[in-house]
Amino acid sequence: MKLERILQNQGFGSRRQCRQLVELGEVRINGEVVDDPGAEIPTAGLVYEIEGEAWTYREKTYLALYKPAGFECSHEPKHHRGVYSLLPHPLVVRNVQSVGRLDVDTTGLLLFSDDGAFIHNLSSPKKHVPKIYRAELAEDGTDALVERLLAGVSLIDEPQPVKALTARLLAPRTLEMSIDLGKYHVVKRMIAAAGNHVDKLHRHGFGGLALGEGVLAGLAEGEWVYLEAADLQQLHPAA
Ligand code: URA
Repeated sequence: MKLERILQNQGFGSRRQCRQLVELGEVRINGEVVDDPGAEIPTAGLVYEIEGEAWTYREKTYLALYKPAGFECSHEPKHHRGVYSLLPHPLVVRNVQSVGRLDVDTTGLLLFSDDGAFIHNLSSPKKHVPKIYRAELAEDGTDALVERLLAGVSLIDEPQPVKALTARLLAPRTLEMSIDLGKYHVVKRMIAAAGNHVDKLHRHGFGGLALGEGVLAGLAEGEWVYLEAADLQQLHPAA
């Protein structure tokens, strides 16, 4: 593929801007400046440097972010900073989108991609990909709370009772539960309907990926990592 085209589809700007970057000698491949925007470059396994920063060519891109509190999951945030401000600009230009959303005060694992089919698959309740949440409760949790969540609670606007796939108390005021749907404020609403209140909410895991484990070990709040093919496989542990 032509170098200017590669840079454009990897998010480095318009065709004209990418051509300029190349002509200014800002692009290196294998340590050598390539200043011909029309140079034909094989994309398989391509690593290139732009202004000294190394990038790997990715046809589609997949990311995991440890979302801090106080960030909106929106490209046009209204009252807080947006999660997209935590990602490198070229990835935003590539139009990565979050897989579902977390509330502004919710922390934890948020996935992004520019692969529409991937986002659709993970967002669809039919695919039953569990999302694991840890909620700090306002009052001590009880066995009855856990049982109600597992049995299903009624939510306004939901025709059927909504059930947790799993629910257990990790501490008197820490409840871990998983769900395979992604509705507005669903965890907070479920716990309220079951008779308690969420003080803080954290998403610990998505499918077989969990913060603090594997590729996400050591990821601090506000940091992100690329997800590679093997990591993506873990999203569907049963598959
Ligand atoms: N459920 C909620 O209530 N909030 C979130 O951020 C995610 C799930």
